[in-house]
This record gives sequence, C-alpha cells and structure tokens, in this order.
Amino acid sequence: MTECLHTGMDATALPSPCFVVDESALKHNLEILASVREQSGCRILLALKCFAMFRVFPLLSKTLDGICASSPHEARLGREEFGKEVHTFAAAYSHNDIQELCTTTDHLVFNSFAQVNRFTPLVADLTRKNGRCIKLGIRINPEHSEGAVPIYDPCAPGSRLGIRKKGFPPHFPGEITGLHWHNLCEQDADCLERTIKAVEEGFSDIIPRVNYVNFGGGHHITRPGYDIDLLVKLIQEFKKKWGKEVLLEPGEAVALNAGFLVATVLDIVSADMDIAIMDASVPAHMPDVLEMPYRPHIVGSAPPGKKPYTCRIGGPSCLAGDVAGEYAFDEPLKVGDKLIFTDMAIYTMVKTNTFNGVQLPAIALLSEHGTCPEIIKQFGYEDFKSRLS
Ligand SMILES: Cc1ncc(COP(=O)(O)O)c(C=O)c1O
Repeated sequence: MTECLHTGMDATALPSPCFVVDESALKHNLEILASVREQSGCRILLALKCFAMFRVFPLLSKTLDGICASSPHEARLGREEFGKEVHTFAAAYSHNDIQELCTTTDHLVFNSFAQVNRFTPLVADLTRKNGRCIKLGIRINPEHSEGAVPIYDPCAPGSRLGIRKKGFPPHFPGEITGLHWHNLCEQDADCLERTIKAVEEGFSDIIPRVNYVNFGGGHHITRPGYDIDLLVKLIQEFKKKWGKEVLLEPGEAVALNAGFLVATVLDIVSADMDIAIMDASVPAHMPDVLEMPYRPHIVGSAPPGKKPYTCRIGGPSCLAGDVAGEYAFDEPLKVGDKLIFTDMAIYTMVKTNTFNGVQLPAIALLSEHGTCPEIIKQFGYEDFKSRLS
C-alpha cells in the first residue's frame, strides 16, 4: 500500500532530507480506528511519544479522543494543540513535573504507590487552586510478556515499569480511579487476549475498584491482517464483564505507513562493495533502525541480490554504524538520486537529534489530493545551536 500511495508524489522540489507525511494514509488509519471505537465502545488516545506532528492534530482529533503523554512537555503540547483528553504516565515524576502537569493533564498515572502517597496531597491542593479536576491512575505490571525484543518488553525480568501484584498495599487508595498497563509492541489481538487473561487472574480484586482500564499501546490495529474482530470482541467482553470504560493508546497504529523520509545520494564510495552515502543519518533521523534493529524499506529497492545492482546505504555522520542496510536496485545509484524510505512517520520526528551537527530533516505534508508536498517546517543552524550553550 505504501508504494502505491507514494506514486505520484513529486519529491524534486523538497528540501533534503525531508519527512513527508501522507494525509490519505493517515485518513485510512483513522477510518480503521474509528470503526474499532464505534464497534467496541472504547476510547482511543494518540501516544505522542510515537507521532507528535501537531499540524495534523485537527485531522486526528476528529476521530481520536485525546492524547497520552510521557512528560509535562508532551502533556502541554496535547493540551495546547489537540484539545481533548490528556492522559500522562511517566516512570517517576518530580515535584516540578506534578506542578506543571496539574495545569495540563486530565489523568495522571503513577508507577509506584510511593509516588501516589507522596503526590496525592499536592495534586489535591493544585486541583483546588487551579480549578481543574485531575483523575489519578496507576500502571500495573501484568507480569505477562508477549514481546520478542527485551528493550521493548515492559514485563521483562527486572522491568521498572508498572506495579506488580506483590507491590500492592493492603488498602487500595480510594483516590485511584484508573488502571493502566502497557506490554505490547507491534502485536496482534491474540497477544492482548492472553494479556487480559493474565490481568484478570492477577488483579481481579483491583479491577472492581477503578472506573476505567487502559490497555496501553502496541496494538498494531492498522496493519493489514490485524485481527480487528478479535480486538472488538475482547473490549466488548471486558466492558460487559467488569462494567468499566476501556481505553487504548496506540502510537504506531495511528501513523503506520503514513510517512516517508526523502534523502539524496551525496556520493558513492567503493569499499568491499559500492556504498551510497546520503544526506540522512540513520542514528540521527531513524534511530529505531539501529535500536530495534531493522532494515527500512526504500521505494523501488529489493533485498540484496534480488535486482541487478546491490549497494550499501549509509549516512554522513562519523558513526561507522550509520548504515541503513544493503539494497538492490534496477540500476546503479547516482549522485543526486532520491531515496524514499517508507514507514517513517512513527518514532522518527519525535526522536531526531543533531549528532555531528547533521541537518534535521524538514517536515512536509502531502495532502489527500495533491502530488506536491507542502513544506511545513525547515530547520537550520539555530536549531542545532539552541540546544547547546
Ligand atoms: C505507556 C505506553 N503507551 C503507549 C505506547 C505506544 O505504543 P505503540 O506506538 O507501539 O502503539 C507506548 C510505547 O512505548 C507506551 O510505552
């Protein structure tokens, strides 16, 4: 789908490198999420940690119920630009965090009872002063792993995320009205089914004490083949059995396959094989490629050896590992060629850095019926300098 959506996009006039977000792909994802919301009766929040391009918030907020934030800054962005529910979870908060969050968030989710006890009086005090009602929740650790990649598995041994059942006090604080967990990463509804079972086994005495349960993110709902019927059934059954509101907070599913990173070939060097050096940097612009790791797709390419010309593609930085991977093309690459990396809306713009002083990619939006993306933002030396002193 990504390839056909990109067809017709005119990348020639774009600055390089440049993220291009595809409005029609976002709309496609939103239609799927709208149907999940309507069929199941759940509420769906956008996880800003994954995708925070606020230019498209007016579009996203037509379907989604709000955002979930991981910090005071994300919560403020959500409050200022999204304008619906703001939920916040962080592994720990400082006194200043709580003060700021009490002006922006609607739901504050804690990661320990020590933080609940420490900050509940402050929240109550600020709630009175600010005239804003803030609901409190806790994140549980269901102690049920579905993840294959340990750094993306919040239920891995030694995880600091979520309160385990044995960490619960004898008396559950009456101020807590929400239960939250997050244990999935790019997974299907069968993983959620097993997780719900684990939560129901471990926390059956806690669920009745709260008003809502947030099933977290990691639901790959908009990926072709995802079992939407099972997801809807699980939510409906949970709501019926426990009489609780259910929320989901996906990031990836909202902007999956909805963006490109357009880069330009700057040079071709010959080492053990041809290596094309582009103006996009893997650690600075698509760090998940190294973190996960995975090999991002480039439009028109095939796996090494599957087309006549194979070369390695790397970035301009000093890091030896600034390499996207090896790719095969119909013809040898040339200086000036455009490389269009797919699925680059998620966990990219929100993670960019200026290591080596590399140019931050511009941000553009391809409107539903257009072929020429509109350039929304460009970055320069001042953006690099302003983060240093
Ligand atoms: C607490 C929480 N909620 C939601 C998400 C969003 O997950 P995804 O983008 O995989 O849907 C994450 C991702 O790490 C998370 O940690």
